[in-house]
Amino acid sequence: MTTILIYKQKPLGYKCFMEKIARSYSNLDLHRKIGDIIEARSSNKEEIRSVAAGLVDWQRIRTVLDLGCGYGWFEKVLGGRLDLVCGIDYLGENREEFLRTAERIAKKAVFLQAHLPAAIDTPPESFDLVVSAYSLYFFPEMIGEVKRLLKSEGQFLTITHSESMLTEGEKYFDFSGLRKVIQRFSAENGEALLKEHFTVTAFVDYPNTLVFGRHDGGDLSQYIEFKKEFISVDVDPELVKEKMLAELQRLGELRFNKNDRIFVAKK
Ligand SMILES: C[S@@+](CC[C@H](N)C(=O)[O-])C[C@H]1O[C@@H](n2cnc3c(N)ncnc32)[C@H](O)[C@@H]1O
Repeated sequence: MTTILIYKQKPLGYKCFMEKIARSYSNLDLHRKIGDIIEARSSNKEEIRSVAAGLVDWQRIRTVLDLGCGYGWFEKVLGGRLDLVCGIDYLGENREEFLRTAERIAKKAVFLQAHLPAAIDTPPESFDLVVSAYSLYFFPEMIGEVKRLLKSEGQFLTITHSESMLTEGEKYFDFSGLRKVIQRFSAENGEALLKEHFTVTAFVDYPNTLVFGRHDGGDLSQYIEFKKEFISVDVDPELVKEKMLAELQRLGELRFNKNDRIFVAKK
């Protein structure tokens, strides 16, 4: 029998808690390490970045804008020689690594530190491709601005989580606050939100499960640690860690779905 543990954190102002979550990506080494853990524990061995990049028609793409670019995770799988790659992120510590990666694939690389949503001081129709990977739920209000920034034949590529990723965790805890964050732009409602401004030309589901075996407690613990700002919207992360590690030992294996969806939209 499973128990729903309801341990509500002190309510934070909405803006404050979204900023707290964004700041959780500031430890670059940990962010990269978690990327490796996700890759190692994923049942789907096809790289989602490569699946996403494969959906884009690259023929006429010279200029790329990445919103919530982080340290340039998406750009790392790109090759070729673009004219411009511009990344925007809330965290200035991503600048150096983002620029290093972008300079490898573009004649000009730019990093702007900004808290989105915000109007971007660039003429309309400046970009052939706008990317937002695992970040649009922080600033879904940007969808209209993306339309202004995209050229008429431009493409908008987004990768986002499914609300179903909370299913396993919700057997133990109430994650309704976190669900609301994901619901700002999710696999389930992303198409409808994009359609307010764009024609969605394709969406592809990326089915995946994170599988932790009895000896993977260290990885599970670090994964929960990384997600602590998200988790703390609803529950004390230490309580989640303790419960999940005990369940891992009791059951011998824990599986969490991590089904994402990739959208490609055009004006
Ligand atoms: C989950 S990470 C994704 C980073 C990168 N796109 C990737 O896929 O690895 C979310 C990123 O969005 C940024 N972010 C969160 N809220 C933001 C905001 N309001 N404005 C700009 N960037 C934000 C964070 O700093 C973080 O780098």
